[in-house]
Amino acid sequence: MSEKIFVTKSYLPPKEEYTAYLTGIWERSHLTNQGPLVLELEQKLRDYLDVEHLHFASNGTIVLQMALKALKITGEVITTPFSYCATSHVIAWENATPIFADIREEDLCIDPDCIEALITPKTQAILATHVYGIPCQLERIEALAKKHNLYVIYDAAHTFGVKVDGKSLLSFGDISTCSFHATKVSIPSKAA
Ligand SMILES: Cc1ncc(COP(=O)(O)O)c(C=O)c1O
Repeated sequence: MSEKIFVTKSYLPPKEEYTAYLTGIWERSHLTNQGPLVLELEQKLRDYLDVEHLHFASNGTIVLQMALKALKITGEVITTPFSYCATSHVIAWENATPIFADIREEDLCIDPDCIEALITPKTQAILATHVYGIPCQLERIEALAKKHNLYVIYDAAHTFGVKVDGKSLLSFGDISTCSFHATKVSIPSKAA
């Protein structure tokens, strides 16, 4: 008999609590387009994460694509080769060009030392992933972006509960995106 080894186990609320919400949904019949539960959760998360703007979409892939669309990115995007495939797929889907910078041995996040040499007049953004919830080199990436007038998008799919110096990691960059896929875990707060 093979033994199952769980890598993560999803948290599920008590079934009665969940079904009470379902009863309300059946009563209202409001299934899409800003239903009250989504609006309530968005507001609670804005407060919890202390961010001004926060919006839900269906998954952590589509929000990355939305981020590129929102910033009208069509040129070159410097990104990391060490991420989930969605990080570079969305760049291609937007007909922009992914340019891969190497990663750091210490934390597997994009290496700011490798970014600057890749910047060209076509570069519009840096798209960096906080790998396994470990923050990227935030200050150095921000300084590079400021110097070269680039947008910064963080793929923060792994970082829901992570704080840096008391601030949610989701509040960094021009846009940060997250994923609530069942394998995503929150890591306790930690200073940078
Ligand atoms: C770094 C990273 N970005 C984006 C995604 C995409 O998230 P989702 O599975 O919610 O579409 C994932 C999911 O595995 C991820 O690990």
